[in-house]
Amino acid sequence: MSDMDEMLTALLARRRSVRGFMPADVPADQMRRIFSNAQLAPSNCNVQPWIVHIVSGGKAAEMRQALEGAATDRSEVRPDFELTEGYAGIYRSRQIDAAKALFAATGVGREDPQARRASFIRNFRFFDAPHAAFIFLPPWAGWREAADVGMYAQTLMLALSAEGLASCAQGALSHHADVVKRVLGVDEELRLLFGIAFGFEDPDHPANQTRTDRAPIAENHCFHG
Ligand SMILES: Cc1cc2nc3c(=O)[nH]c(=O)nc-3n(C[C@H](O)[C@H](O)[C@H](O)COP(=O)(O)O)c2cc1C
Repeated sequence: MSDMDEMLTALLARRRSVRGFMPADVPADQMRRIFSNAQLAPSNCNVQPWIVHIVSGGKAAEMRQALEGAATDRSEVRPDFELTEGYAGIYRSRQIDAAKALFAATGVGREDPQARRASFIRNFRFFDAPHAAFIFLPPWAGWREAADVGMYAQTLMLALSAEGLASCAQGALSHHADVVKRVLGVDEELRLLFGIAFGFEDPDHPANQTRTDRAPIAENHCFHG
């Protein structure tokens, strides 16, 4: 293995979903460097369809309050992209394994709907991270551009990890897309795919005491020829 391979493996392993943050802001120069690195992500025909709005400080507090209010008061979600109905088979068992590990770490009983709800609601406070990035697509964008956003998001999260910062991609941050657009004052035609909470990890937070694992490569890869 070359030094570069080792660095890549270490960086990929360092990135994980963190759900408890310290209050300190990421310094502005570090923020610029990270977002400049994220911008190196590849995209179909290099169209770079991601439109990224980052909230910090007072705007982050306003967003937290608005999203938590919507998630608590509304009986329905209003995403720009339909939510997946539910997982089945092997996908469901992987989902359950991840949820079980998180609930065990945070002391949430799987049969305790109130505690589960409270745990879910933490999403809308973006786990008290000092910053969140909301990632939109232009109105014309489809599946291929959504894939570009996936490339961008992983590039951003690795750029954060490289600087010792933590993140969590959050589909939940798109559940009330109308609220996000109102708070940001952005064009209603933009389509919100997901958000990413980021900042400095709180290493003592119970939610951060767990790690997910991965299926053996044979479960979802076939090498032909
Ligand atoms: C697009 C996307 C959306 C996600 N949405 C959420 C979310 O709403 N809430 C949450 O707690 N985690 C969310 N996650 C984090 C996943 O649960 C996590 O990536 C997965 O369990 C693997 O764990 P790891 O990131 O620690 O490796 C999301 C991840 C991705 C890539």
